[in-house]
Amino acid sequence: MVVIHVSAECYPVAKVGGLGDVVGSLPKYQQAAGITSMVVMPYYDRQFVRESRLDVVFESEILMGGKTLPFQVLKESTDKLGYPLHLIRIPGLLDRSEIYSYPDETEQFVAFQLAFLEWLIQFGDKPDIVHCHDHQTGLIPFLMNHSFRYNQLTHIPTILTIHNAQYQGWFGWDKYHYLPDVDPWKWGMLDWEGTINSLAVGVKSCWKYTTVSPSYLEELKYNSNGLEQLFIHEEKKSLGVINGIDTEVWNPATDPMIPCHYHSDNVSKGKQENKRAICKEFGLTLTKPLVAFIGRLVGEKGADLLPEAISNTLESLKGKVSIMVLGSGEPEIEEALAGLRTTFKKDYNVFIGYDEALSHLIYAGADFIIMPSRVEPCGLNQLYALRYGTIPVVRSTGGLKDTVIDYSQPEGYGICFEEAESEAISHAITRATELYSNTPGMRLLRKRMMSLDFSWHRSASQYIDLYNSLK
Ligand code: ADP
Ligand code: GLC
Repeated sequence: MVVIHVSAECYPVAKVGGLGDVVGSLPKYQQAAGITSMVVMPYYDRQFVRESRLDVVFESEILMGGKTLPFQVLKESTDKLGYPLHLIRIPGLLDRSEIYSYPDETEQFVAFQLAFLEWLIQFGDKPDIVHCHDHQTGLIPFLMNHSFRYNQLTHIPTILTIHNAQYQGWFGWDKYHYLPDVDPWKWGMLDWEGTINSLAVGVKSCWKYTTVSPSYLEELKYNSNGLEQLFIHEEKKSLGVINGIDTEVWNPATDPMIPCHYHSDNVSKGKQENKRAICKEFGLTLTKPLVAFIGRLVGEKGADLLPEAISNTLESLKGKVSIMVLGSGEPEIEEALAGLRTTFKKDYNVFIGYDEALSHLIYAGADFIIMPSRVEPCGLNQLYALRYGTIPVVRSTGGLKDTVIDYSQPEGYGICFEEAESEAISHAITRATELYSNTPGMRLLRKRMMSLDFSWHRSASQYIDLYNSLK
C-alpha cells in the first residue's frame, strides 16, 4: 500500500506546531508497519532544505488565474527521515523562510495544491490513498473529484485529517478563477456562508475525515468556528484518532537537546539536573516546584489568561512556586508576560520566541506543564510531558480530556480543571504545589507517567485500518 501525506508542515523540515510533529512522525511508524508512506510538502527556504541533497524528479507548470507558474518536485535523496520526502518548489511563491502569514497565502497554498495534483496525474503508479492535513490541502479532495483536469484521480480514496478547525483557509469568490474548470453542478460545494472555505470543501469532498482526538470530533459539532452544521451533517464519514508521539525524538534517555539523560528508574535525579540548567539560565530557584507553559501565545491556548493567573498565583503562594513561559504569538500577550518579569524577579521568567532545544529542556526540567487551552484538538505538550515524567496540568477539553486523568482518580497522573479562567489556573497550580511537597507521591506519579505508551504504535494502526477499509 502507498500513502501520500500532503501537508504544509513536517518536522524537522518545517514546523510551527503539532501539525509538523504529527506529519513528521506518523509516516515513520507507518513505514515500520509495512506500508509505503511518503510526505509531500512545500519547498521552503529553511535550513533543513538548504542542507539536504535533493534530486529533481519532476518538472512542469500550473495555470493559476491566467498565470503560468513553473514548478519542480524534489526528492530528498538520502532517506534521512526514514520515509520518502518530496518538496514542491514554486519559485517566488513558496520558497520563502516563513511558513504562514504572508499576504498572498491563498495564492501560495492554491498553487501548492495544484502543483501536487499536476504531479499526481502524471505519477506512474498511483498511490492507494491521498492523506491530506488541514485546510492548506482541503481543495485537493474536491479537485480530484470535481475538476475536469484532475477527475481521472476520482477513484483514489482521500482522507482529510483536521488538526485545527479554527483556521479554515477562506478566500473570496473573486479568486475562484485560480481553480481549474470544475463541474458546474459542483462548484457550489466550495462555498460556506458566501466565501470559498478550503476546510469545509475538504470535509464535504473527502472520502473520510478524521480529527486528532475523539473528544474533539464531538466538540466540532457545537464549537468549530462556524462549521458546526457541516460537522453534524457529515458525521457519518468521520473518525477520531488520537495522535501519537515520536518516541525516538522525544526520549529523555537519549535526547541530545538536554544536558542530563534519565529514565524511569532515576527520574527524580535526572529531572533535578535538567531543572538546574533551566534555573541557572533563567534565574529561578532549584528547590521550588517549577510550572511551565510552552506554546503559541493565543486565545485558543488560554494564553491570554496567563498574565493575570501568574500574577495572582505568585502573590498568593508567596515564594512557594516558580513559573516559566516559552512562547510567541499575540503581541499584547507577549508584552504582558514580559512585563511580569520586573515584579516577580526570582519566581518567574519568560522566553518570547520559538526555541526547539529550550522546549526539550523545559519538558525535562520542569515539574509541571500547564495547558489552560480553550480549544485543544489533541495537544502534544501533555504527551511529551508524560514521556519526560513531568506532570500535565490541563483544562479538560478535546485531546487533553482524552489523554490526561486527574491524579485523584485510580491510575491517574495529571491535574485537571474545567474552566478556562484565571482562578481555575491558580487553583490548579496551588494543587500542583501541594502535590510537589509529597515526595513519595511525586515519585510514584513520575514512574506511572513514564510507563504509559503514547507512541504511534497505538494510533498508527487505526489509520492503517482506515486505509484498508477504503481500498
Ligand atoms: P499546536 O500545534 O496547537 O501549537 P501542539 O500541542 O499540538 O499545539 O504542539 C505544539 C508543538 O509546538 C509542541 O511540539 C511544542 O513543544 C512546540 N512549541 C510550541 N511553541 C513553542 C516554542 N515557543 N518553542 C519551541 N517549541 C514550541
Ligand atoms: C493542531 C492542534 C493541536 C494538535 C496538533 C497536531 O495544531 O491545535 O491540538 O495536537 O494540531 O495534531
